[in-house]
Amino acid sequence: MHRTFIAARSAAWLISFASLLGCSSTTLVDDDSKLGQVHLRATTAATDYEAENSPAVCQGTIDSDHTGFSGTGFCNTTNAVGAFVEWTVNASAAGSASLTFRYANGTTTDRPADISVNGQVVSAAHSFAGTTNWDTWATQTLNANLVAGSNTVRVTPTTANGDANLDKLTVDAPTDTAAPTTPQNLRSTNVTSNSITLAWDASTDNVGVAAYDIFNDGNHMDEAAGNVTTKTLAGLVPKTTYRLTVFARDAAGNVSASSNQVPVTTSPTSDTTPPTAPGNLTASNVGNSSVTLTWTASTDDVGVTGYDVLAGGTPIITNVQGTSTTVNNLAADTDFTFTVRAKDAGNNSSNPSNAVTIHTGSVPPGGGTPGSVTTVSSGWSIPWGLAWLPSGTAIITERETFNVFTLTQSGTKTMVGQVPNAVGTGGEGGLLGIAVDPNWNSNHFIYVMHTASEGNRIARMTFNGTSLSGYTILVQGIKKNRFHNGGRLKFGPDGFLYATCGEAQTPDLAQDKNALNGKILRMKTDGTPAPGNPFGTLIYSFGHRNPQGIAWDSAGRLWEAEFGDTKFDELNLITPGANYGWPTCEGDCNVSGMTNPKKTWTTGEASPSGITIVNDVVYMAALRGQRLWRIPLNGTSAGTPTAFFVNQFGRLRTVEKVPGQSLLWLSTTNVDFNGNQPSGSDKIFKVTIN
Ligand code: GCU
Ligand code: CA
Repeated sequence: MHRTFIAARSAAWLISFASLLGCSSTTLVDDDSKLGQVHLRATTAATDYEAENSPAVCQGTIDSDHTGFSGTGFCNTTNAVGAFVEWTVNASAAGSASLTFRYANGTTTDRPADISVNGQVVSAAHSFAGTTNWDTWATQTLNANLVAGSNTVRVTPTTANGDANLDKLTVDAPTDTAAPTTPQNLRSTNVTSNSITLAWDASTDNVGVAAYDIFNDGNHMDEAAGNVTTKTLAGLVPKTTYRLTVFARDAAGNVSASSNQVPVTTSPTSDTTPPTAPGNLTASNVGNSSVTLTWTASTDDVGVTGYDVLAGGTPIITNVQGTSTTVNNLAADTDFTFTVRAKDAGNNSSNPSNAVTIHTGSVPPGGGTPGSVTTVSSGWSIPWGLAWLPSGTAIITERETFNVFTLTQSGTKTMVGQVPNAVGTGGEGGLLGIAVDPNWNSNHFIYVMHTASEGNRIARMTFNGTSLSGYTILVQGIKKNRFHNGGRLKFGPDGFLYATCGEAQTPDLAQDKNALNGKILRMKTDGTPAPGNPFGTLIYSFGHRNPQGIAWDSAGRLWEAEFGDTKFDELNLITPGANYGWPTCEGDCNVSGMTNPKKTWTTGEASPSGITIVNDVVYMAALRGQRLWRIPLNGTSAGTPTAFFVNQFGRLRTVEKVPGQSLLWLSTTNVDFNGNQPSGSDKIFKVTIN
């Protein structure tokens, strides 16, 4: 069982590597049963270990009196039998590695040495023949088995001349690409008002489980060591539901699939008496996006711990300390009714304060602002991708039904087919983005991104105007997980297909240029890399966490929105080959080689999915933030964001400009596990741009 799992996962990885290398046309498969045709190929990584750098041991002197060495010098061992050089080298997986020793021997006499790995001689009296002079370097290469983790490699001279001068050791070792098995049977074994103890059945791994990561939905909460199968989460809020999953991670950063998800609600405390209601709520300094609220303090039998500010009955700021706060990021030219409630340590809420209603000012013109909203179509369940056919009719996917519909400008909805091989992830995977070929009139091709058995895929289908057929895989085996599957597909102004890939809850993959996760991809319509891509692979940019929004401005610059973890969401200006920082950076940071976002929001204000650009204004649909963000662009900089429709329509997924009209279409995602609305309650709106 264990072996089967590892093999299947490695096969999926291999296919994504094949796609990276631009040879996906030779590995195209049209159904899962053909996956077995692909043969495994070991992946390796070469590392240099200089002889002069600790923890290498040089039984002699570190010299630099000859030319041509690497690093800062070389090891000149004492001229004696047994005066050795030893390196400590790391391998992320066990297996055969190649060891290359760079040396100089300025004499005409061979300087043989025993080469040993972890104390075992692997080549006795190995020849290090003369290299003409001490400035001329040569190499000796041999293969030896390494263990996973730390290894010692020693070169011990067998003659009184000692070793040749040794410059460095280069090790090309196997890397571990096999993820641990999925942790099973996650359960809570103890619950208090502020803690939850979890237990699970151990995962196994070819090398070893380094740690278990615990998530609350898509957010990392805590971790446990790899040799334990229980963890107590502390500092939790009483009477609050956490939806918990656990993932196993190995030392190489490979992450398992998600465990079962366990909802656990912390218990109440003995404090059951809520605070009194705050009084005398008043508003001042009303601007076009902000207002200051002030109230009188509540009292409590134990103690007030903070105040929540609600707009239209929905909390928008929680745990305010003190009796005044400024509410930012409000929609312009809109009525808001605020109330405030007090909380105590038992998470008991007071009755609301008096309500106060304000009207925000309007945004200065320039680029347009959203105006009236009307419903184009209702009865949807998580509509996700939306693209335009040349007629102006939209083609739209549904995430969990895997159905594809057309929707005309006048609101006529027609189901045109279902995408085969699509599966859900019990989270955010499923049938995601859709794109229409710029030459659809002649080739009738459309493209979809969806989750399948082996991972996320990009596939092509034929849409003849009536029905879907001809499912063909272009890229597959992009690692999937419960959350962070990316999913947006769009054609750029350059005619190439762009796709956004999430990091599949495996943060290290975002920095790994051998993986497609945590990347924006750019490809030809056969799924091979577009010409001019920065690394010659499908990858266009990297260091992304869960990107779902892409759009181009009037100068052809690519802008992207992505979900942060618990702190900051990002709007990025994408340049080819740039590194957007995840997981080292979330939002702004100061790390050389990493590109900062142009704008950030707290995850409560945004959690952005789709974006579109109209007259160099970005419109960004926010899920958790339940609003449409408007961000004016000025060349390569982004101006002040303003929000529209805050909490009016629920969670917003996709926004697209209607071609040739000053109109947006905007879709909701209220039928998911966060929105909790019944099937069929999602809608597609049209929004005028004035
Ligand atoms: C010379 C040479 C050294 C070398 C030594 C030897 O002294 O400069 O770099 O190590 O010979 O014979 O080992
Ligand atoms: Ca492993």
